[in-house]
Amino acid sequence: MRLLFKNIKELIQVRTKQELFVSGKDMKKLPVISNAFLLIEDGIISNFGEMKACPEVNVDKEIDATGKMILPTWCDSHTHLVYAGNREGEFVDRIKGLSYEEIAARGGGILNSAKKLQEISEEELYEQSKVRLEEIMLLGTGAVEIKSGYGLTIEAELKMLRVIDRLKRNYPIAVKATFLGAHAIPQDYKNNKQGYLNMLVNELMPRIEKERLAEYVDIFCEAGYFTVEDTEFVLQAGLKHGLLPKIHVNQFNAIGGVEAGVKYNALSVDHLEVMPKEDIEILKGSKTMPVALPSCSFFLGIPYTPGRQIIDSGLPLALATDYNPGSTPSGNMNFVVSTACIKMKLTPEEAINAATINGAYAMGLERDYGSITVGKQANIILTKPINSYGFIPYSFGNNQIESVYLKGIKIL
Ligand code: NIG
Ligand code: FE
Repeated sequence: MRLLFKNIKELIQVRTKQELFVSGKDMKKLPVISNAFLLIEDGIISNFGEMKACPEVNVDKEIDATGKMILPTWCDSHTHLVYAGNREGEFVDRIKGLSYEEIAARGGGILNSAKKLQEISEEELYEQSKVRLEEIMLLGTGAVEIKSGYGLTIEAELKMLRVIDRLKRNYPIAVKATFLGAHAIPQDYKNNKQGYLNMLVNELMPRIEKERLAEYVDIFCEAGYFTVEDTEFVLQAGLKHGLLPKIHVNQFNAIGGVEAGVKYNALSVDHLEVMPKEDIEILKGSKTMPVALPSCSFFLGIPYTPGRQIIDSGLPLALATDYNPGSTPSGNMNFVVSTACIKMKLTPEEAINAATINGAYAMGLERDYGSITVGKQANIILTKPINSYGFIPYSFGNNQIESVYLKGIKIL
């Protein structure tokens, strides 16, 4: 099956060489070909270039993209989109003045979602979650990481991971699974946190490894949740079971989680709303990707990750949604890209790099996703007619996507 796009106004994020990620000043560069063609064969990018070099080949379908742009689909490296029910009640409580931490302390928050998830069937959880997966695909996301962490019991965590696995098998979007058993301390272990961690490590991890239900391990390293010591305990065990770390750190307090992440070669450290200079220094020279989640800051009214400072210090940065029922009930990467520009002062080039190539790296998918490169999956967004790619973040809250192709197949 051959698909040829012709007369593309701008083909965005073209990379001829395989690059792991882009950092610092290089994030300002977004390689583009004007008046371009793109050839897709059997779901894989097979050729691209300027229109004058467009090959004369027989194709199954030719698409005229005059006035329109093509870019790789978004890579959302941090979500919790498998969950049960919603938490609009807490949303109203926050409007009335309660903080996210106060709501959690009253038994709301993660424990509220865990209760709902424990009570529903696996089938129902799948049905509710697939709606969100379909929704983000239509918003241009072509690769996504999904975490467990609303189960908090052996059975419920496995139920979540099996649902993630089923979504992965049933949809064309690339899905990576992360085990986040250490998301909160469940009621039954209120006074026995170590007992809970032992259960995660000794009973759940071996099953997850055996049934290949996750590739990554996560922990909410935060005051009132899990300490740095707990984090090291979980990451060390995870590595023994083949689970690489990708962790929640510095959302409300910097307690040393970034250092722990780097020590265990975390693929990413996510949130970073509170980012002391020392933590920026620790990340330098590491292979750990800092990930910002600006929709979470928007929704909770908490500080934004200092993305400008992170990039200016020479580090890379990835952007993700954090789609979850408590802090970010939205999986819209277009909004994330806009918000990163508006609130974190990233340029459109930096934000698009952060949401594509760097996002792919932050979930171990950089070989096949995140750029227009020969041999990569043909996951692309075709925009409506627009003047420049800067219009995508500029026109925040509006949708500039005309079509989405995943593995070369048109889904929108
Ligand atoms: O990434 N901070 C920890 N976990 C989620 C929110 C969980 C919830 O409120 O349900 C987050 O923001
Ligand atoms: Fe999260």
